[in-house]
Amino acid sequence: MRAVKLCTSVLAGFLAVNALSARQQTAPPSEVDEGRELFIGNCAVCHGPDGDSVPGVDLGHGKFKRASSYDNVIEIIRDGVPRTAMPAFSKELSELEMRAIIAYLRFMAATAYSTSAPGDPVRGKAIFESKGACLNCHRVKDKGSRLGPDLTEIGAVRRMIELERSLLEPNAEILLQNRLVRLVTRDGVTITGRLLNQDTFTVQLIDSRERLHSLQKSSLNEYAFIDKSPMPTYRDKLNPPELADLVSYLVSLKGIVSQ
Ligand code: HEC
Ligand code: HEC
Repeated sequence: MRAVKLCTSVLAGFLAVNALSARQQTAPPSEVDEGRELFIGNCAVCHGPDGDSVPGVDLGHGKFKRASSYDNVIEIIRDGVPRTAMPAFSKELSELEMRAIIAYLRFMAATAYSTSAPGDPVRGKAIFESKGACLNCHRVKDKGSRLGPDLTEIGAVRRMIELERSLLEPNAEILLQNRLVRLVTRDGVTITGRLLNQDTFTVQLIDSRERLHSLQKSSLNEYAFIDKSPMPTYRDKLNPPELADLVSYLVSLKGIVSQ
């Protein structure tokens, strides 16, 4: 706790000396990541993954009804808004966690999409299932493969800009739970697949043919995460209108309940 405080005050001094603008004071990625998790876990249920589901409030674009600064925003998160659905989080979240959420809100505003959902989700679904061949690796409800992450609810947990980035630069950001592992057993058999679970002694994964493997770690010669995503980039495979349609389709995938 103390080390973190010291570190932020040194950083604040550094920023003041260099007279950086507010926009340039981007937080280190780890704080933004923590803020994203906290936002998805505590706020997205009402505010939506893009922060724009409550009428008149657009958290992802820094557009507020009441708050006039990010300090105000912290107060609102802490105390809630009386006589509205906005709850107080003073018991659920620590000051550092609230600051992480603010870092994420600033990050969202700095990387905001200027256009909103320009594509056609129906055409996007057709691209997903035919030309894009996304079902070779992904599942939506009961259709497709389990090699890559299940996308049935992807529109509820990822922002448009994140979905677009996944299609254009699959290697830019791979979530821990989506990472692939490569194992080589003592008898020289190589298995590549998505990590499902592991403990001190065993590891479970699912391979590209959807076979479940459970192995003793002691029987392995090699065990490593693969840094590169097996997902190809669609930058040259799909043109911009097709990408927009596809992203609109992904945004529409909000899980079974809302269908
Ligand atoms: C149960 C639903 C709900 C949850 C959960 C929720 N909010 Fe809200 N929030 C609202 C509503 C509704 C409003 C609008 C209140 C009003 O009418 O001014 C609001 C308003 C706000 C405002 C004021 C915006 C402005 O225009 O000034 C901020 C900031 C905010 N919420 C942030 C958060 C954050 C951050 C979280 C998660 C830690 C969160 N909210 C969780 C429902 C919710
Ligand atoms: C060769 C297999 C493969 C193909 C084909 C493929 N993907 Fe992926 N995709 C993956 C894997 C594995 C991941 C998880 C690792 C990563 O994030 O890159 C992933 C990640 C994603 C993510 C991010 C998921 C998250 O939780 O943030 C999205 C969105 C996505 N893919 C959409 C698509 C779409 C749309 C298509 C078709 C145009 C497609 N993928 C084609 C394997 C594939």
